[in-house]
Amino acid sequence: MYSGEKSLLRFTTTGSVDDGKSTLIGRLLYETKSIYEDQYAAIEKTSRRKGFQEVELAYLLDGLAAEREQGITIDVAYRYFETQKRKFIITDTPGHVQYTRNMVTGASKADCAVILVDARNGILTQSKRHGFIISLLQIPHLIVAINKMDLVDYSEDVFNRIVEEYEDYSQKLDIHDIVYIPVSALKGDNVSVKSERMLWYDGTTLLHYLENIHVTSDRNLVDFRFPVQYVIRPHLDFRGFAGKIASGTITPGEEVVILPSGKSTTIKSITTYDGELQEAFSPQSVVVSLKDEIDVSRGDMIVRKKNLPQIGNSLEATICWMDEKPLNMTTPYIMKHTTNYVKAHITKIVYKIDVDTLHRKPADTFLLNEIGRIEIKTSAPVFFDPYKLNRATGSFILIDPLTNNTVASGMIRDVTRHIEDYAQKQDENVAQRGKSPHTIWRGMNIDLAEREERNGHKAAVLWFTGLSGSGKSTIAGALEKRLFDLNCRTAMLDGDNMRHGLCSDLSFSPEDRKENIRRAGEVAKVFFEHGNVVLCTFISPFKRDREFVRSLFPEGRFIEIHIDCDIEECRRRDPNGLYKKAASGVIKNFTGLSSPYESPDNPELIVNTKNSSLQESVDKLEAYLKAHFIIAR
Ligand code: ADX
Repeated sequence: MYSGEKSLLRFTTTGSVDDGKSTLIGRLLYETKSIYEDQYAAIEKTSRRKGFQEVELAYLLDGLAAEREQGITIDVAYRYFETQKRKFIITDTPGHVQYTRNMVTGASKADCAVILVDARNGILTQSKRHGFIISLLQIPHLIVAINKMDLVDYSEDVFNRIVEEYEDYSQKLDIHDIVYIPVSALKGDNVSVKSERMLWYDGTTLLHYLENIHVTSDRNLVDFRFPVQYVIRPHLDFRGFAGKIASGTITPGEEVVILPSGKSTTIKSITTYDGELQEAFSPQSVVVSLKDEIDVSRGDMIVRKKNLPQIGNSLEATICWMDEKPLNMTTPYIMKHTTNYVKAHITKIVYKIDVDTLHRKPADTFLLNEIGRIEIKTSAPVFFDPYKLNRATGSFILIDPLTNNTVASGMIRDVTRHIEDYAQKQDENVAQRGKSPHTIWRGMNIDLAEREERNGHKAAVLWFTGLSGSGKSTIAGALEKRLFDLNCRTAMLDGDNMRHGLCSDLSFSPEDRKENIRRAGEVAKVFFEHGNVVLCTFISPFKRDREFVRSLFPEGRFIEIHIDCDIEECRRRDPNGLYKKAASGVIKNFTGLSSPYESPDNPELIVNTKNSSLQESVDKLEAYLKAHFIIAR
């Protein structure tokens, strides 16, 4: 009966107390002949002794109950069975108090979830909570098994009413495939055998449905991600990297990049126990070898050159708190993400979700089983995909270094969402921004994310600040040429140019400089929203004004570059003779002489033009843009 070719379906079952989950699992095991004759005989005897009419299949699961009574904590129980068509792993999560933690643990890898509803009781809060967690975990398929139909006279009306109620609720969730099956686990209706007593139901049985769910299309076979687990060096001539392909497919000869080093090479071979492979795909465990000798260690990730994950050390995630000890914002936790461990600090609780109402509310900690959104900073960058696109590289757990407990399970949010949020914020903040009377905000016409996708690079604002003569325009000009050659869409906003026309009405007083920078920022924003890498060269001597411009852009997209050059050197260069004029009093309010220059405290980059050549400076900027995935590597 067993065949190595059979596909595997992992599903999770949840329900409230007494809605017949054990009976249902018992029946699935019994009807797929996954239990021994003597096991069956034993429970048959017990059932008879206790005076039951039916064989209590739930007793099959009694081993678990007994362990529980002895105080052995079993959070999630795994059961296996198979049919002609498929192999199954059930992760059975007890539906009692600690349901959230258990469900998150048990269901995180599931292809499908079965929620049991007692037909007599209809939809309970618990059933809604389970649906919410299933949606959060992005389990692609949900079966609502409406059980105990025998106790409601197999009534179509009862079934329809429950379906309607759940449909109503599930619209608020992010689950795309929900089916409803009326069953009686006790009597065996619609579990594996089609019921004769519910002829009004024209769907399939539960088992038939489980056997036929398409799961390959749910898996991410596009983005190749190979987190390295071990480096293998059996002899001097071979060095391989072992791990489990988290997503995607790969073939020998393909060009890959090693993260974090960013070095590229090609795949030389892919090996498994069964020999060399011509193609490997998730979730296979393989050993790959590379064409070039490159330093690769545990925790690194091998990805395809033209398909990179996101990188960052400041993430947004939805977490489920799983520890008795509440979240402590001052504790440094350890984040385990793929095969990588990094130190992580939760920097902000964005909100907590009331699982019953789905409302968000402010919070300053998380207690056991609570769910919400956080911001988290890691000590080293992590390579990730949004959980929505990739459950393997989009999830992590947090570990308390003192107790070694897993304290939270997290799902990383799409940071390209920053861009969507950005658009949304523009719309929401219209009232706060200045505007002319009787004008209407029209928002963005084409999504920035779409523009970026077409351009093949991100939009960003490179803000060059520094003294007159420090070299801002020279460096920005050279960088723009280089970006142009790399097929990037660029725009250049130059201080001197802008003061012709658009800002020709402004002087160099602090107030007018402020207005100058405000206008520059707003113009940069228009170019940014059109997908450009915008290079802005303004003395912009005041921190406050630069901070204002920064506030116009999403995180990570405003890159402040201090073109650092001491005033003596600038004065010596004096390209336009302005220092001379200022010294003689012809020019008033001259930056560095009669008007202050406030150096940035925390710029993204400092480029010193006295000690480095133009070429070096431009190389440094290009490397930064690549390392931060603004432009392709
Ligand atoms: S900012 O301070 O408002 O940011 P901006 O970058 O637009 O200045 O313009 C600076 C340019 O204006 C300088 O490159 C220089 O050529 C010219 N300029 C004329 N007067 C002054 C002045 N008083 N201080 C600084 N730059 C001046």
